[in-house]
Amino acid sequence: MQFQLHTTDTASAARAGTITTAHGVIETPIFMPVGTVGSVKGVSQQQLKDEVDAQIILGNTYHLYLRPGTGILEQAGGLHKFNGWDRPILTDSGGYQVFSLAANRKIKEEGVVFQSHIDGSRHLFTPENVMDTQRTIGADIIMAFDECPPYPSEYGYAKTSMELTHRWLARCVQHFNSTEPKYGYEQSLFPIVQGSTYKDLRRASAEFVAGMECDGNAIGGLSVGEPEEMMYEMCAHCCEFLPADKPRYLMGVGTPWNILENIALGIDMFDCVMPTRNGRNGMLFTTQGVINIRNKKWADDLSPIDQGLDCATSRFYTKAYLRHLFISSEILGLTIASIHNLAFYLHLVRQARQHILAGDYTTWKNSMIPILKQRL
Ligand code: GUN
Repeated sequence: MQFQLHTTDTASAARAGTITTAHGVIETPIFMPVGTVGSVKGVSQQQLKDEVDAQIILGNTYHLYLRPGTGILEQAGGLHKFNGWDRPILTDSGGYQVFSLAANRKIKEEGVVFQSHIDGSRHLFTPENVMDTQRTIGADIIMAFDECPPYPSEYGYAKTSMELTHRWLARCVQHFNSTEPKYGYEQSLFPIVQGSTYKDLRRASAEFVAGMECDGNAIGGLSVGEPEEMMYEMCAHCCEFLPADKPRYLMGVGTPWNILENIALGIDMFDCVMPTRNGRNGMLFTTQGVINIRNKKWADDLSPIDQGLDCATSRFYTKAYLRHLFISSEILGLTIASIHNLAFYLHLVRQARQHILAGDYTTWKNSMIPILKQRL
């Protein structure tokens, strides 16, 4: 994997770059749609390309390991072949999901023993077998196995947890470096900074992570319920100690305005379930502000969902029609809302990139945020 930095903003830490992977080039800053089980909910791979223009999608080790399992993924020749998505894929390690989804999980030095949320079966995730599973899934970018502490966490817990994440990281790197890709193309491992909401821990973690000299670095444990200002403070602090010549990935963030603010702090990559999950609940992010499409006020609004996007779905269907689909519980409504929200997120990061390249990112960001937050 190669990361090329094209421009850094003068008034902020924002950067525009390109990441070159075996499955193609990613222009940063980028938003990555979440396809937990190998499918972005409600949206086909063709729509992700033609309507959303997604450059990279996420998969999740926890889910893919439990179902369909590594056997069939290996037989298929990896997730790209299995789901037909031939652009880059990143897989999360499952650390986060084990803590949020699994029943009866038990953290040990060796790894985490947990029960599947599907059938209650017992499993063990270790740094080593999570590397093996991600080798088998065949993602271009794979994530280290970490523990994401809840918010709030006491200092002692946050420190102990961070130290465990660091020992697991050393084992991940060791195992990753001593194994080969399964399908003949290169994979990159990204370590994850933890440390909860404590600046000294965040610094120690960012320095430890930077010392691993991986192809890129991630920041985890944020957007877990802490105030937005605290997230920005932690993110800025981590970025200070993460190398500038490697991509920085902020995991699980966030709203459109969170993304613009964190780009200004030096983040290059984002993922979040918000555009798809909130979309399925009728919440639309648009170039004019936020819409609840179930609201009666849209019943006779025959204007396009969002004329400001270069997305056929957003321009073709009207608000009144989409509302009708939601009120009638038609599955097409979920698809249209998901495509629209993802197209909006991708539009937003493309615009951000253009403004970084043009040299007016901060001015543009500050003018955009009040519009994005507006409730229509
Ligand atoms: N997704 C959002 N936050 C996190 C995190 O802290 N760790 C992992 N592995 N995934 C995440």
